[in-house]
Amino acid sequence: MTAKIVSIAQAKGGVGKSTLCANLSVTLSQASKVLMIDCDPPQHSLSAWYHVRDELYVETGLSLTSAATPAQLIALVEKNKADYDYILIDGAPHVNSLVRAMLLLSNLALVPLAPSAVEIWSFAAYEELIHEAEKHNQSLKTKIVWNRVRRRVKSSEQVIEMVSKDSKLAALKNQITFRVAYLDSFAEGCSVYEWSDPVAAAEIWSLTSAVKRVLNKAGPVKLSKSVAAQNFIKKG
Ligand SMILES: Nc1ncnc2c1ncn2[C@@H]1O[C@H](COP(=O)(O)OP(=O)(O)O)[C@@H](O)[C@H]1O
Ligand SMILES: [Mg+2]
Repeated sequence: MTAKIVSIAQAKGGVGKSTLCANLSVTLSQASKVLMIDCDPPQHSLSAWYHVRDELYVETGLSLTSAATPAQLIALVEKNKADYDYILIDGAPHVNSLVRAMLLLSNLALVPLAPSAVEIWSFAAYEELIHEAEKHNQSLKTKIVWNRVRRRVKSSEQVIEMVSKDSKLAALKNQITFRVAYLDSFAEGCSVYEWSDPVAAAEIWSLTSAVKRVLNKAGPVKLSKSVAAQNFIKKG
């Protein structure tokens, strides 16, 4: 087996990277072997979630490790890719060389975005980074994931429409709405699939299916050894 590699990437904090990473990992792990790599030192909220979970449950098929440097991340992916079906990488809320390396190693970058004008002010710069990464990783697919969506809120709908017109990045059809279950379940080391909100659970299962569909045809990513790719990572 060669793991399909998914990064959860966004320069803003609080957009739901760790929440989506944890929830997708749990649903994927129901039928597959999943490794999560926490690349968000010093916050490590994914690791904190995993440790709460670890104390409560016997886990199968869901493992966690962390990386603090590009070299560590590259070595971890290389070492583990034959042993897992999926590797999910939780990124930091800024742009650094670890985030850049993550994008060059991935089949798919999921970019969580909340549909509010303030949240997308800094998005254009991040989009540029992703387009630059695509030049060095031709296997990279990128999908926006609308998160914390509030239904029937006009301004949210307008932001989603604006991004779909102006951005070259496509969004997954499946949106994640604002639900307390995402907060509460994470704090207890659970996914929403293990919680008491069937709407949230259904959202995450649909998202998981959409992610699997995108990854179905993805071949292994070969990290470019070109000087340009190395410089892209080193830019920090
Ligand atoms: N769909 C959602 N509905 C409600 N709260 C959410 C949702 N997604 C994330 N959150 C909450 O938003 C906060 C930030 O999420 P987090 O995953 O830590 O973001 P990031 O990793 O991007 O910094 C957390 O308190 C989390 O529980
Ligand atoms: Mg996080």
